[in-house]
Amino acid sequence: MDLSGFFPSDVHYFFTKEKQDWSVLSENEMALAEKYGTKRKADFVTGRYCLRQCTGILGYNGDILIGERGMPVLPPHIAASVSHSRSLCGAVAGPKNSYLSLGIDIETAGRVNKDLWHLLFTASEQEYLDSLSPEEQQLQSTVFFSLKEAYYKCQYPLTGTYLDFTEVAVIVKNQNLFVQLLKDIPGPFIKGGLTEGKMTTYGTQVITFCALQNFA
Ligand SMILES: CC(C)(COP(=O)(O)OP(=O)(O)OC[C@H]1O[C@@H](n2cnc3c(N)ncnc32)[C@H](O)[C@@H]1OP(=O)(O)O)[C@@H](O)C(=O)NCCC(=O)NCCS
Repeated sequence: MDLSGFFPSDVHYFFTKEKQDWSVLSENEMALAEKYGTKRKADFVTGRYCLRQCTGILGYNGDILIGERGMPVLPPHIAASVSHSRSLCGAVAGPKNSYLSLGIDIETAGRVNKDLWHLLFTASEQEYLDSLSPEEQQLQSTVFFSLKEAYYKCQYPLTGTYLDFTEVAVIVKNQNLFVQLLKDIPGPFIKGGLTEGKMTTYGTQVITFCALQNFA
């Protein structure tokens, strides 16, 4: 899948629509996934396959197990993230000396029902979405939802903090996307601070990405 130009050049990515076979897992990953139901197992297998394509380029082909609150356990020199939707699975990985953390998410456009907006979006996000045409609302509400999940996956490994959907806000500025953190949390993310987000589409699929760069 060609997503050239979407991710930074030093972020490796791999996406596929093809479900992978159980044999792509390591023994330890198999032991972990044994108890999963059919769908979860299929997602996990294909997700690990995508992750391995990316981490392999960075010299790591070992286990990627599951850590605290669901985060992937990675070697110390790699930041990575994975997402599975009904029809697409993808992963990204980059060197830790460039990125403290990465987050991606994939969602099917149009699946964020307006009835859920009050749970997912702040008053100003809802005001923004309300100003759009019905077609744009379908796309943008999915983008906002997905970017929040990508941000969550990016921040969690660094902060160990669960964030509710209304504790961050997506801001659109001159057609650029940012996620604003609305509460104090431990670690490098500051209340009020903006993290740049990116979105693209692939057919019906919305793909979002965010990263925390390592400036040290
Ligand atoms: C964790 C969550 C973001 C996953 O998103 P999802 O759309 O359900 O599922 P996806 O397929 O996109 O992503 C699943 C992957 O997320 C990753 N993930 C799960 N928990 C994670 C965490 N705490 N930190 C980082 N990555 C995590 C895992 O790699 C997982 O895949 P795997 O189990 O096969 O390894 C979501 O289930 C959730 O709990 N959201 C609530 C918190 C939130 O999003 N808040 C938004 C405001 S910041």
